[in-house]
Amino acid sequence: MPHVVILGTQWGDEGKGKIVDALAAEARFRAVVRYQGGNNAGHTVVVGGQTYTFHLLPSGMLYPDRTCVLGNGVVIDPQVLSSELAALEARVGTEHARLFISDKAHLIMPWHILRDCIAGGAIGTTCRGIGPAYSDYIERRGIRWADALDQEAFANRVAEEAAWNQRLVEALLDHHRVPSERRADLDPDHALSADRIIASYRTWVQQITGNRLVESGDASALLDHLQGRGEDILFEGAQGTLLDIAHGTYPYVTSSHPTLGGVYVGTGFRPRHLQVVGVAKAYTTRVGGGPFPTELADELGLHLREAGHEYGATTGRPRRCGWLDLPMLKYACRVSGLDSLALTKLDVLTGIPRLCLAVAYQTGQAMTDTFAVHSDVLQRARVVYEELDGWSEDISAASTFADLPRAAQAYVQRIESFVGRPLSMISIGPQRDQMIVCGPSG
Ligand code: GDP
Ligand code: IMO
Ligand code: MG
Repeated sequence: MPHVVILGTQWGDEGKGKIVDALAAEARFRAVVRYQGGNNAGHTVVVGGQTYTFHLLPSGMLYPDRTCVLGNGVVIDPQVLSSELAALEARVGTEHARLFISDKAHLIMPWHILRDCIAGGAIGTTCRGIGPAYSDYIERRGIRWADALDQEAFANRVAEEAAWNQRLVEALLDHHRVPSERRADLDPDHALSADRIIASYRTWVQQITGNRLVESGDASALLDHLQGRGEDILFEGAQGTLLDIAHGTYPYVTSSHPTLGGVYVGTGFRPRHLQVVGVAKAYTTRVGGGPFPTELADELGLHLREAGHEYGATTGRPRRCGWLDLPMLKYACRVSGLDSLALTKLDVLTGIPRLCLAVAYQTGQAMTDTFAVHSDVLQRARVVYEELDGWSEDISAASTFADLPRAAQAYVQRIESFVGRPLSMISIGPQRDQMIVCGPSG
């Protein structure tokens, strides 16, 4: 059986956590692996009426006999990881998966968070230090998980970096003309005190490594070993295709590679047989700044926000909502070579009399069904829609494609025919079991 990658096809929050949790139930998957991003992610899993929100921990954590992996491509805030583990154990005890941390994963340090809070405003980042952590990694001055395990080397690196960041942060505060009250709130002298950082990081790292279900080392070797034994691996993307630093709506993107390429670089592993599943919400949402051609800045947009509970799982910010964009899904198919789509939140569209699907973009006389990822082109283009009938029946208990009303079937089939990929799953509610598993056209 192939390994499976679950990744987002839009601007994140497509329901990846739910799909990963549902698939991880298959006994063939021994490991669930995050390959990029950090605690900017918020992946929601609902089981038996209990809601779990994972930020850094992979969404397979609720299965005690699995190994969850944080690959080298993930950026780790030890404070967040330590408290997420503690919060999980407060709910499920030690009845959770083992956690394996790549020793090559980079750490998010307090200066990353500070720099993100000062400079991330225009993009509308999550302020979790993600961009600055990846930028220090690329600049070859990052601190890795392995460094945190060597106390003396760690203390030296923190002292060096804290001193450098004092000057950098001062320059940023001046450049961004941050007012004095806000400077007082950010309190950079306190946040960048090397002694304080060394002591607190030591505590958090010890809390994590002291957990008998946590191990760290060469994650690439672990995955290779599992593959050699014939075990299957589930890869969990964070964010989405249009937030990819290379392939997204730059500069309104995150700083990692949620697309398929991220799996290879972010794990150091070549999966032999691979099935790539793109998760698509039945409509579109976006958090933060940047172009959003199918956005509904009206009553219907507000209706989608309330019906779909579209508030960020990480920052609580209201999500912008709009119609499904089919050229965007086709683009995601191309960039990651998707084999199939998992459609989520179809139930949220129930009760809307007429549904629109974006099928093309018009700029001047030119019409195209290719998604133009450049922000300025997207801002200028006029969206061409196709209209379909809605449905009013409750679909949240459907268990087969045939249970769906005709209009819902037609909506799903139009997505398949436009994108040219089958839908392998249709999610019709947040619960683990609210899922229709189907082949092409049901
Ligand atoms: P992720 O970041 O891609 O994992 O998605 P989020 O967890 O941030 O956002 C998805 C939200 O939709 C969560 O609150 C899920 O519980 C919820 N959800 C997932 N699938 C469905 C679905 O099919 N129907 C409904 N109504 N909610 C869903
Ligand atoms: P999941 O995994 C939705 C967005 C932020 C911002 C931009 C850059 O839950 O789908 P960053 O903090 O990453 O530098 O912010 O990316 N963003 C997300 N939007 N879902 C996410 O994750 C996101 N992670 C980052 O809102 O616009
Ligand atoms: Mg999310």
